[in-house]
Formats: sequence, structure tokens, C-alpha cells
Amino acid sequence: MENTYARQDDIYRPEMATVVRSEPMTALERFFELKLDSGEELGHLPGQFAEVSVFGIGEAPISISSSPTQNGSFQMVVRNAGNVTRAMHGLKPGDKVGIRGPFGTHFPVDGEMKGKDIVFVCGGLGLVPVRSAINYVLHHRADYGDVTILSGTKSPAERLFVDEVEAWTSKGNMTYMETVDRGDEEWTGHVGVITTLMTDMSVDPRKTVAIICGPPVMYKFAIMSLYKMGMVDKNIYVSLERHMKCGVGKCGHCQINSLYVCQDGPVFRFADLAEVPEAIQ
Ligand SMILES: Cc1cc2nc3c(=O)[nH]c(=O)nc-3n(C[C@H](O)[C@H](O)[C@H](O)COP(=O)(O)OP(=O)(O)OC[C@H]3O[C@@H](n4cnc5c(N)ncnc54)[C@H](O)[C@@H]3O)c2cc1C
Ligand code: FES
Repeated sequence: MENTYARQDDIYRPEMATVVRSEPMTALERFFELKLDSGEELGHLPGQFAEVSVFGIGEAPISISSSPTQNGSFQMVVRNAGNVTRAMHGLKPGDKVGIRGPFGTHFPVDGEMKGKDIVFVCGGLGLVPVRSAINYVLHHRADYGDVTILSGTKSPAERLFVDEVEAWTSKGNMTYMETVDRGDEEWTGHVGVITTLMTDMSVDPRKTVAIICGPPVMYKFAIMSLYKMGMVDKNIYVSLERHMKCGVGKCGHCQINSLYVCQDGPVFRFADLAEVPEAIQ
């Protein structure tokens, strides 16, 4: 997969962008819609991220959650985790941020995924970048086969994009299955880790591509469940998260052996990680 590099001439200079929507999603996550002040499209592909700067505070890599088929603006979901993300939670419509990117590799929506059945395996915030691919597939629905979305969160209160499930299942004819690690009094759905959704699942491994994005602990077990269905490494893609600074392969913060997650990833074909076992540990 080629790395679609930044649109800017100077990869370190942020472009100005304006917050057009800022809404709470859960106790920790906030939804943002942003527009570049230049009026240009961000020009991302599903799975890519951008470096977002809050002026005077710092910069953080954040996935782009909207599909590139949505014109005029782009969307992000930000978990309040530290200095920059806390400051982002204070942003209101009209406030300015800096944007560098889009950076990194992307899900192969126009490559290996085309014409195939797709299984999305998303844990927690992993649904945020994957949503970009889901809505891209929805927009070009006839280009893909059966689509299954598996989503897991720790608790019902942490579920994301619940209001979009209807569009994915009814309009998009996709199968959506979700689970929570721990239910509450009102929860009547599935309880258990995400791999418990995969126990009775079957796929045609010759024509299926799987996409995995979630917390580090999930990958090994999700991949083992895919192996049980007959899937092989070349048809499995993982999106990895590592601490980043520059986002453009210069500082080494995101390095795993010879790989720079910011540039060689965040999306990797699992077969390409065969020599880098620590990537999913
Ligand atoms: C490709 C990519 C996509 C991402 N997408 C999203 C997204 O869509 N939404 C989202 O909410 N988050 C996303 N993240 C995570 C997000 O970038 C981090 O939560 C954010 O950078 C934290 O910055 P902060 O300044 O708010 O927190 P910080 O103040 O940096 O602290 C956050 C936490 O990380 C720890 N920490 C900070 N730096 C290091 C380090 N170098 N080594 C070890 N621990 C460290 C701190 O101790 C603290 O616990 C993504 C990360 C990557 C790499
Ligand atoms: S974040 Fe600097 S090299 Fe990847």
C-alpha cells in the first residue's frame, strides 16, 4: 500500500481548520466535525489519521472517522486522555485548530477489499477509523460482497455510532453484531469479549478480507478466531496505534523494529508483520 503523503508542501506546517460541530458522545469521547479554512477537501482515505494541534497546548494524532465520500467537512472522535485531547474537549463551533495530514496507510477499500466479503472487527475506539471504511463501503455498496461488522465495548455506555447501525443494516444490508464485556440493568444484548461473537461465525476464506482495529489485547485473539474460520494472514489487515510525534517518519517515536507505524501504517497487511511479532503484543 502506498503512503498517501500530506497535501501540504511543508509537512510540519499545520493548516487552519474550524470546528463546525462539537458534541459529547460518551463520558470520555467527543464528536467533532471540522472544515479546512482553505475550503479544500482533506483528501483522506479510510484508515488514515491527521495530526491535530490545539494552539498553545500541543498536537495529537487522531483518526479520520468520516468517509471521504462525505464532502465539505471531516469528522473525528476524541477520547479525553491527556493534555491535547482534554483541550480538544473544550473546543466549540467556530474555534480553530491546526491540521497536518492526512497521514499513513489506509484500508484497501479500492484494492483487495473490492468485490470481497468483509469482516470488520472493532474494539472500543477502533470503530472510529473503521467507520470511515464502513461508510465508504456503504456508499459504493454494489462493489463489495457480504459485510459483517463486529463491535465490542467494555460497557453499554461506551458504545459509539449506535444511531448509524440502522443505516448500515437496513440500507446497507450489512450484518451488525455487538457485545459488551459487562452489561447493566437495561442491557439485553450479548455479553462477552468480541471473540465470543466469532465462535459460530463462518466465512468463505477465499473471498473474505478481515479488518481489525481495537485495543492491543484484542489482536492476537481476534486473529486466532479468524484462523479458525480458515482465514490466512494475507487477507487480514490490522490498524495499529503507537505513540507518535511527527507523524511523518522522522522522529522514531512510533518505531517497532524497522517499521514506522506513522508511515508504514497504521494499517498493515498482517502477512507483512510476520517478522515483527511485537507489533501485536
Ligand atoms: C494513528 C493514531 C490514531 C489515533 N486515533 C485516535 C482517535 O481517533 N481518537 C482518539 O481519541 N485518540 C486517537 N489516538 C490516540 C491519541 O493520539 C492519544 O490519546 C493522544 O495523542 C493523547 O495525547 P494527549 O496530549 O491528550 O495525552 P498525553 O498528555 O500525551 O497523555 C495521554 C496518555 O498517554 C501517556 N503517554 C503520552 N506519551 C507517551 C509516550 N511517549 N509513551 C508512553 N505513554 C505516553 C500519558 O502518560 C497518558 O497516560 C490515535 C493515535 C494514533 C497513533
Ligand atoms: S511519529 Fe515520528 S517517526 Fe513516526
